[in-house]
Amino acid sequence: MDIVSNKELLLDAKKNQYAVPAFNVHNLETIQAVIEGAWEMKSPVIIATTPGTVNYAGLEYLVAILKAGAKKYKISIALHLDHCTDIDFLKNCIKGGYKSVMIDSSMEDFDTNINNTKIMVDFAHKLGVSVESELGHIWGQEEEIVINKRDALLTDPIMALEFVKKTGVDSLAVAIGTAHGIYKLEPKLDFDRLIKMNKIIDVPLVLHGASGISEENIKKAIQYGICKVNIATEIKIQFAEAIKKYFKENPDADDPRNYLSPAKEIAKNVVKEKINICGSRNRI
Ligand code: 13P
Ligand code: ZN
Repeated sequence: MDIVSNKELLLDAKKNQYAVPAFNVHNLETIQAVIEGAWEMKSPVIIATTPGTVNYAGLEYLVAILKAGAKKYKISIALHLDHCTDIDFLKNCIKGGYKSVMIDSSMEDFDTNINNTKIMVDFAHKLGVSVESELGHIWGQEEEIVINKRDALLTDPIMALEFVKKTGVDSLAVAIGTAHGIYKLEPKLDFDRLIKMNKIIDVPLVLHGASGISEENIKKAIQYGICKVNIATEIKIQFAEAIKKYFKENPDADDPRNYLSPAKEIAKNVVKEKINICGSRNRI
């Protein structure tokens, strides 16, 4: 099997009311953890890389490793470029073999966000590549949001409908109260807003910042229309903690195969746990 686009995975998820988890990876071991975890659970999966990861690991390496993984394991695997603001960078990843990308112009004004997204949709669709875009603001971990300001940052359902119609985007990342990174307290998600959007918008909706969101709330979000759940921080933290633990117990360790293996296993456990929550097990 070759790597696939998000679109085909997410349409099946929407039809059958589950979500496909998207895991951000950084190196060979995290890629293996995601693919092996998904294979053991017989789940479709999205491997997400930020532009920073593409620069770190190399576009050709990432595409080649993912193609090798998709060939070896008989599950549907998508390779997705996450949160990219640069149109040339996006086009380059598509030319290099990515089948799915996210253009993130959410910090621009509404019309510029529409224009940039439309440019990417026109380019990507000709090549059979799917596009995700974001409307509203999924803020960073450190920002202090006072509650009455929060509403202005969440996705407006009517604007979201206009956005999807004007851009032809394949999936939409919506802001309903999550943030990237660690939460001091789990945020209160605006499910009414999500229900409204799901009623009027026919493309799959995406939840960013899912690390630290409870099982109950992820399941509710899926029930109300979320088809893709993004997880980065939880894997990153657990991976690092396992390496720190290994060195604490084995201060003279110097073989990467020894100190990275437990980290990979722990990352794989996170992957399997999230697959269970997303309901994507046995969906291949
Ligand atoms: P977390 O780091 O909060 O899991 O967010 C992941 C994400 O949204 C990646 O795009
Ligand atoms: Zn995100």
